[in-house]
Amino acid sequence: MPVKEIKKNPTQHNGTLTKGSQSEKRSGTKLAYIESYGCQMNFADSEVVASILSGDGYQITESLQEASLVLVNTCSIREKAEQTVRKRLEYFNSIKKNKSEMTVGVLGCMAERLKHQFLEEEKIVDLVVGPDAYKDIPNLLQEVAQDREAVNVLLSKEETYGDIAPIRLNSNGVSAFVSITRGCDNMCTFCVVPFTRGRERSRDPKSILEEIHDLAQKGYKEITLLGQNVDSYLWYGGGLKKDFVKASPLQQKTALRFENLLALVAEAQPKIRIRFSTSNPQDMSLEVLKVMQKYENICNYIHLPVQSGSNSILKKMNRQHTREEYMKLIDSIREIIPDCGISHDMIAGFPTETDKDHQDTLDLMDYVQYDFGFMFAYSERPGTLAARKIEDDVPEAVKKKRLSQIIEKQQQHSRIRTQAFVGQTVCVLIEKESKRSNAHWSGRTTQNTVAVFPKKDFQIGDFVEVKITDCTSATLIGEASKISNRV
Ligand code: SAH
Ligand code: F3S
Repeated sequence: MPVKEIKKNPTQHNGTLTKGSQSEKRSGTKLAYIESYGCQMNFADSEVVASILSGDGYQITESLQEASLVLVNTCSIREKAEQTVRKRLEYFNSIKKNKSEMTVGVLGCMAERLKHQFLEEEKIVDLVVGPDAYKDIPNLLQEVAQDREAVNVLLSKEETYGDIAPIRLNSNGVSAFVSITRGCDNMCTFCVVPFTRGRERSRDPKSILEEIHDLAQKGYKEITLLGQNVDSYLWYGGGLKKDFVKASPLQQKTALRFENLLALVAEAQPKIRIRFSTSNPQDMSLEVLKVMQKYENICNYIHLPVQSGSNSILKKMNRQHTREEYMKLIDSIREIIPDCGISHDMIAGFPTETDKDHQDTLDLMDYVQYDFGFMFAYSERPGTLAARKIEDDVPEAVKKKRLSQIIEKQQQHSRIRTQAFVGQTVCVLIEKESKRSNAHWSGRTTQNTVAVFPKKDFQIGDFVEVKITDCTSATLIGEASKISNRV
């Protein structure tokens, strides 16, 4: 799931000029440019920020040069992610030297982690806003205008932005993210997210359904329900998971869990594909699998990070399951949804990891035969339990070697998985033009595997029947025959 991409797109909103560049002064609008890094949640959050800015009279531009407000939504998950952002901030500052009216702001996890450090030691930004403080951006911009410190990194126990209608950025008009939970209570020892995104809270189902209804009206065909740990979604009238014990008996009895939410969404929008990410093995229930089996429009795909195949490492990571429990869950998935696509996140070289632990990871991969995965070398994050208590003792070269073995194994499995589709006819939702050829469409199957095929007369947003004739390890290649009545 974690990807590094750049988001920069126009929206149709005009505002009034208060302070801005020359081109803004000509057109009378304030222009903001937003770049996003990291997980899907950050991309969804940038759409919330775009909406808040729009309410403050800004128009979003894809031109960095003409923007008077430049925001970068950041990721802290690994050191490299932070380095990438730092380079971008340095670049923005080099532009700012010749454009003094430009405001540069840092949003998201790095803002939360480094807080005032950005203003005090580094002096490379004007504005620092944590993931729960985006509604304060208009006020903070006023502080900047008056040369005052503009930092808000307060984490909230309630904020879900359920009342904000996101402005879709970089959208193909077909697929959209809808966040259903924020924060994470799991405290995996390697992970910075609980510190940067705060306690886990669930969003009011009414606002989730309304947002999805609105997307359906606008012609969207696929939504992905987002959260760090969607399976622990829990709405009982309040949102904070840890306070559920204090809820009244009636609230506890009538609480809405993830499987209930999934069924509600599937029933409300039978013509829309529903995906969700990310699932945590400790919380994924058989009920969720049964709901997936029941509704055709819920995609047969589960992103189920495991991080390691070794019990001793899983324990040190504070993952709340064993290798055996994970394998049992995989067995249940295969039994209940035989054609389910499954992907993973894996970390190579967690502190104390031995060759035997690494071999356990490779063996687990053989057992599951994942469709694809996101694989990383362990990166120590300041403040996490692992950084404080466990020495980062696996040499960099060993981490790299283990990571390359994991990637190589994944490539073998991906190829086996894609080859199994050759000869089959699958339903594909067309999302965009293929990167390699403007005569081909690119879309995904229910299993989340990419398929490319000649365009013919089909359009973006069509569900089409595609006969698969060939494949690479990551992509299915085929021929579309007709509009599908499947989703
Ligand atoms: N539950 C989240 C996980 C977010 S972090 C989700 O929605 O995806 C995404 C992935 O980054 C994790 O699953 C893990 O594999 C990886 N990761 C997190 N912290 C890491 C670290 N310190 N070093 C290397 N990889 C890490
Ligand atoms: Fe991080 Fe573990 Fe939560 S990986 S986001 S602490 S489930």
